[in-house]
Amino acid sequence: MVQLSTAVCLLGGLFLIAPVLMAPTHSSMCTPLRTINDSLSHRRQYMKHNFPIEYTIKVHNREIFRLSNISRMRLRTEGLNELVLQRLWFQVYQGVLKKILWVLPTRHPSRPYTAELERRFKDAQAVFMQSHPAQVFQEDLPEKIHDIWDSLTEKPENMPESSWRFATPKSLLDNLCRTMYCLFSECFSNADVQEDYCEVSHWRKGRKKDMQPES
Ligand SMILES: *[C@@H]1O[C@H](CO)[C@@H](O)[C@H](O)[C@H]1NC(C)=O
Ligand SMILES: *[C@@H]1O[C@H](CO)[C@@H](O)[C@H](O)[C@H]1NC(C)=O
Repeated sequence: MVQLSTAVCLLGGLFLIAPVLMAPTHSSMCTPLRTINDSLSHRRQYMKHNFPIEYTIKVHNREIFRLSNISRMRLRTEGLNELVLQRLWFQVYQGVLKKILWVLPTRHPSRPYTAELERRFKDAQAVFMQSHPAQVFQEDLPEKIHDIWDSLTEKPENMPESSWRFATPKSLLDNLCRTMYCLFSECFSNADVQEDYCEVSHWRKGRKKDMQPES
């Protein structure tokens, strides 16, 4: 939970009341997330080179979860906090990894890599669940997030045709990686440089090719 506690500071005889946002990322999360990051550094090889050019897989539109979604949600969703976003992130990407794994035949050269990545992801998810009190996961989600959650867990056959998208495996993992840095930035920040991983432009430096039109 993000807790809003109040710090009262005495400053030159003035009392200032400043809200202090306590970080929702438990430090125990950092080790498993960095392990995921290590795997992700090989994604070009395993998610691009080992696939036919322009190979795409069919995913639910809610499985396209990018930095732009996060910034929009932060602006527009009432009752949203970081923990809710982190829960959603795990929910989205467990499905994405499952889908990538599902299209890979047993002997595909990217299969062991993907299976390992999924295992690491599950480890991180287990630590995430353990590092928060169980009640937190029973709390109601903000309505908009609840709707997204419902569509992610809906049976594929009940989904309208219009809710499917095609995405390359590499682009899905790029999104996974960037949103992970943003939502768990405490685990990826560098002491010297203050990076804003949630900033879409952070990823655009000199890489016009990656620019995507946003709706
Ligand atoms: C992710 O892992 C790669 C390779 O191990 C490393 O070079 C990179 O700095 C890591 N990224 C972050 C944000 O820690
Ligand atoms: C992210 O935004 C795109 C539109 O830009 C939308 O299709 C997709 O469903 C959104 N993802 C989530 C998780 O809401």
